[in-house]
Amino acid sequence: MLKGKHIILGITGSIAAYKSAVLCRLLVSAGAEVRVVMTPLAKQFITPLTMATLSQHPILVDFFNPENGEWNSHVKLGEWADLYLIAPASANTMAKMATGVADNLLLTTYLSARCPVAIAPAMDLDMYAHIATQRNMEQLREDGVHIIEPGTGFLASGLSGKGRMAEPEQIVEAVKALFSVKKKSLEGKHYLVTAGATIEPIDPVRFISNHSSGKMGYAIAEALSQRGARVTLISGRTALACPAGVERVDVLSARDMYEACVERFEESDGAVMCAAVADYTPVEVAEQKIKKSDDNLSLALRRTDDIAATLGQRKGHRVLVGFAMETEAEEANAQHKLERKNFDFIVLNSLREQGAGFRGDTNVVTLIDPTSAEKLPLMSKSDVAERIADKIESLNR
Ligand code: CTP
Repeated sequence: MLKGKHIILGITGSIAAYKSAVLCRLLVSAGAEVRVVMTPLAKQFITPLTMATLSQHPILVDFFNPENGEWNSHVKLGEWADLYLIAPASANTMAKMATGVADNLLLTTYLSARCPVAIAPAMDLDMYAHIATQRNMEQLREDGVHIIEPGTGFLASGLSGKGRMAEPEQIVEAVKALFSVKKKSLEGKHYLVTAGATIEPIDPVRFISNHSSGKMGYAIAEALSQRGARVTLISGRTALACPAGVERVDVLSARDMYEACVERFEESDGAVMCAAVADYTPVEVAEQKIKKSDDNLSLALRRTDDIAATLGQRKGHRVLVGFAMETEAEEANAQHKLERKNFDFIVLNSLREQGAGFRGDTNVVTLIDPTSAEKLPLMSKSDVAERIADKIESLNR
């Protein structure tokens, strides 16, 4: 898919620049032609020799060669490229991009580029979370820059959190998705997707949860994102990596998920409610670990708020898609939920079907809207996600 594609790889001053070497190699192996532009500081983190060797071309840092005055034309470079990929993108470079500062070749190339631009941010967790960085990212998103979300984990500072540059393999996947021939039919739309299991604490060490793996919701987030939508994935507990280009908000309890959804719904074009949300939560969370005794233990549980139903009441023109997992009277129960929660359509899983439900990579679902029910055959969760994305597209909102 990347054969013959012209990619400018921009490298900024971040420790994650060491991953740019692998990224460059992967892009070249996939058939892309790569030219590397570095900021002056990036040279402190990875050598021009390494990058020139891997990209098979001299790297560009300065506006001109001081030896002979030869001009490094950012305009020509911008015209040549099919994609400008800045990985790692430091907080400093993102701030400059967001405000149009042009004090190095990497930035003048950004201002000249007519091609799509993607950035893979990399920084310390506090820098990433800072309101200024978030504001700059929001601005860049509005300007049409594709953001390849950083991961969560060990950071060079010794701290652990969100800010690690996405892994080179993930970045290549994101690049392929950008080049995919699929038309960007949902460009300009913003959807929320809930996924995974919520966690209701009982005491500092125990909780109530369920078997949801999050696979279906993550596949939907990916499918919508690949069609050009901006996707916010509000995720309970799962072991999955965030799909490239998707913004993930991690939550624990049903209450956290409720707040994260309600806060963002109004600004969105709709939501897909795929999470397995606890219907009950302990009335009280014990401050200390509950010690066992010889007696039975009863836990008082109270109802959680229904997120989907709340969004259903505030739906307006937005799209709202629900899920139902049933073990009996499947269609009738799903129909009832469709009406009660004001969904445009509901995706019914029957636990009685072979190949459906939790944890697996396949699903058997029926898509039910107020006027029809379409039962799909056994298919992969990513194919189910495509069918759901098709139906969202057909609602044309
Ligand atoms: N849902 C939600 N918030 C909740 C409970 C459910 O957003 N607190 C959403 C789910 O994500 C799903 C849909 O509502 O899209 C259906 O959830 P389900 O638990 O199957 O339905 P309930 O109405 O809780 O019915 P029951 O438990 O009786 O099956």
